[in-house]
Amino acid sequence: MKTATAVATEEKIRVQGVDLFYGDNQALYDINLSVPEGSITAFIGPSGCGKSTLLRTLNRMNDLIPGVKITGEVLVDGDNIYGGDTDVVNLRKNVGMVFQRPNPFPMSIYDNIAYGPRIHGIRRKKDLDVIVERSLQQAALWEEAKDRLHKSALGLSGGQQQRLCIARLLAVEPKVLLMDEPTSALDPISTLKVEELTQELKNKYTIIIVTHNMQQAARISDTTAFFLNGVMVEHGVTDGLFTNPGDKRTEDYITGRFG
Ligand SMILES: Nc1ncnc2c1ncn2[C@@H]1O[C@H](COP(=O)(O)OP(=O)(O)OP(=O)(O)O)[C@@H](O)[C@H]1O
Ligand SMILES: [Mg+2]
Repeated sequence: MKTATAVATEEKIRVQGVDLFYGDNQALYDINLSVPEGSITAFIGPSGCGKSTLLRTLNRMNDLIPGVKITGEVLVDGDNIYGGDTDVVNLRKNVGMVFQRPNPFPMSIYDNIAYGPRIHGIRRKKDLDVIVERSLQQAALWEEAKDRLHKSALGLSGGQQQRLCIARLLAVEPKVLLMDEPTSALDPISTLKVEELTQELKNKYTIIIVTHNMQQAARISDTTAFFLNGVMVEHGVTDGLFTNPGDKRTEDYITGRFG
């Protein structure tokens, strides 16, 4: 299912020497990572190793957690997002996130998707109609949702809600999609739909996906990073990392010896 990535793309994100502390507890140690534009990167590793923490670092979602201290740099398109002049609202529009549990707003399907564009100043119904349809099409939900756009989003199934959350994200035209275990609450068919979606989206977006499912990482990602106890042990081309890991700890993890 994986499609070839365009060669020699530009660097979209660079993480340089990032340490992160929750109060006195260090959760990330000297993370260095380069993410090329238009690719899919998978983060794997045992529970508590820091995958979600690092993901949240990439659009400053950790700012919302009291007592977090971050040092080092995260460059998006060459700009350090921890520099003084970052517009965080704009950053989170460009670097959007989907969470493990679908979290639609308690409003209609239509209003869920129109919410972001409205905040960013789009008011005309005609324009919003176009965005709503396009986003639902991109998220492979249009057929299922088109006759119930003004019904509550909470009436959708879990898998449909997750695709709605992806549609909501796409509506504001981000550049980077951060997906934290987006299929862990989904059945196999919905999972397949989300996986297929990532393949369709990756030429337009840069995607980073956290997953506990190593087959999923192998199926959909171009590169994979393996984490252990807050350290990035290894980052490489996915096929290589799974067939010929460079580090014994990676090998132990992917062969199921621990984790
Ligand atoms: N809000 C928080 N406050 C304090 N400590 C936290 C917080 N969130 C995470 N941590 C700690 O940081 C470490 C990394 O957690 P993180 O959630 O990033 O792991 P993870 O790799 O995403 O795990 P999982 O696979 O279970 O989701 C853990 O030791 C965790 O207890
Ligand atoms: Mg997590």
